[in-house]
Amino acid sequence: MQIIDGKATAKAIKAEIAQEVTQMVQQGFRRPHLAAVLVGHDGGSETYVAYKIKDCEEVGFTSSLVRYEDNVTEEALLKKISELNADNGLDGFIVQLPLPDHISEQKIIEAIDPSKDVDGFHPVNVGKTVIGLPSFVSATPYGIVELIKRYNIETSGKNCVIVGRSNIVGRPLSILMSQKAINATVTVAHSRTKNLKEVCRNADILIPALGSPEFINEDMVKEGAVVIDVGTTRVKSDETKSGFRLKGDVNYEKVAPKCSFITPVPGGVGPMTRVSLLLNTLKAARLSQK
Ligand code: GUN
Repeated sequence: MQIIDGKATAKAIKAEIAQEVTQMVQQGFRRPHLAAVLVGHDGGSETYVAYKIKDCEEVGFTSSLVRYEDNVTEEALLKKISELNADNGLDGFIVQLPLPDHISEQKIIEAIDPSKDVDGFHPVNVGKTVIGLPSFVSATPYGIVELIKRYNIETSGKNCVIVGRSNIVGRPLSILMSQKAINATVTVAHSRTKNLKEVCRNADILIPALGSPEFINEDMVKEGAVVIDVGTTRVKSDETKSGFRLKGDVNYEKVAPKCSFITPVPGGVGPMTRVSLLLNTLKAARLSQK
């Protein structure tokens, strides 16, 4: 069994990005610039946005944080998005989700210029991904594919079972895994799937992305499978400074001995998601400064 070290892989990719930023600056281009829009004070969102800003600093990007209280109107947010779309000094931006109930997330996503949509959530980017055109791919699927490539995991003709059909993970990942560069045979399982245990046991590559801690047990995993755990549920903990710790969708202790490869939580998919946003921002910067 080999542990897939997302933390070390992300660190290596960050070093590659930092090197490219140095070259860009030497060639007279400006540093890639990412902005994050954060509404309200949700603990998870605060943490994720703080990481995004820190990641930018580490690789030499410029970053901006635009904050609103959770009573901001949809109209005010749309106006800010128009300004960010028109800002020539900005390569990409994200609006951290979830948003308060009085704001339509879909309306906000669709207001973002697809060329600055480094989250890859805009229907134009999703559609381009589906038909294999260059696009911004959402960070978690992008990071998972990068991990699979960097670990030389065999995918061609393999049965890949993704558990979860969210717009930002399961569904786009199913598209990427079936594309010609990867060639897996993909099943998307979800809450209405019958015989889920049997479906999962048929997987050569099992990718749970349902956000249900330790849902996947050893009786759901084939001997020798590759298991990529997307779950990162924050659970209360007395053992950490923050009072929280992350739990995956996989019962790691029980499942790991059966696997050929497995990602840990934390230190697997999470760091790759973070670095993928940087890769998308770098790509946006290259395109906008051509
Ligand atoms: N909320 C949870 N994950 C994400 C993400 O990748 N991007 C944004 N904008 N919000 C999120």
